[in-house]
Amino acid sequence: MSYRGIEEDFYDRIEPILHRKIGRELRLAHKVLDIGCGACELVEYLAHTYHQIVMGVDVSGKGFPKHRKTPGGKIRCIRKNARKLDFIADGTIDAVVMMWSFHEMEYPEKILAEAYRVLRPGGEILIVDFPRGSLAQKLWDEDYYTPVGIRRKLESAGFGEVKVRLTAKKQIIWAKGYRPVDAD
Ligand SMILES: C[S@@+](CC[C@H](N)C(=O)[O-])C[C@H]1O[C@@H](n2cnc3c(N)ncnc32)[C@H](O)[C@@H]1O
Repeated sequence: MSYRGIEEDFYDRIEPILHRKIGRELRLAHKVLDIGCGACELVEYLAHTYHQIVMGVDVSGKGFPKHRKTPGGKIRCIRKNARKLDFIADGTIDAVVMMWSFHEMEYPEKILAEAYRVLRPGGEILIVDFPRGSLAQKLWDEDYYTPVGIRRKLESAGFGEVKVRLTAKKQIIWAKGYRPVDAD
């Protein structure tokens, strides 16, 4: 079955492509936080490929790997609600990523406030998610954001230089912003 000419397994097929794209985007970060990391696959990919220190946080913890080291960098997967990242000090993270998880977050303002707090000034937030009205909507029928909706959320949380676009045949939102250097 296909949806507007896009095969149902589209998201499975683009997952490794997105990991590579995210890796390139965040390659200069030393410490990365993945919020809603699922089974920590992206966490492992980034640590292994870019030798980064990568922390994953997820309320579920299902499928977390047992090891904490990859041949490249270090990983840590923590079972916790990202609404309260009190185990991470202010301004200590270079990049925050949320892949396919932002739409699932209750209290998204609190999640973004925590992401902002833990990022160092100049640090980047990257949200990669399914857009409203996409194939994902047809497959899983969850409540997804529009690009405008994500832009508003990021700007309201205080992020600057916000850029939001659709990619991968318009089936993915790619949204990024930065914690301003001179905000507070
Ligand atoms: C669709 S999965 C995506 C997982 C992973 N990022 C990936 O790319 O496969 C969304 C994840 O967000 C997690 N999640 C939802 N709300 C959360 C919260 N408040 N804090 C931490 N994780 C949360 C869920 O447990 C789930 O594992």
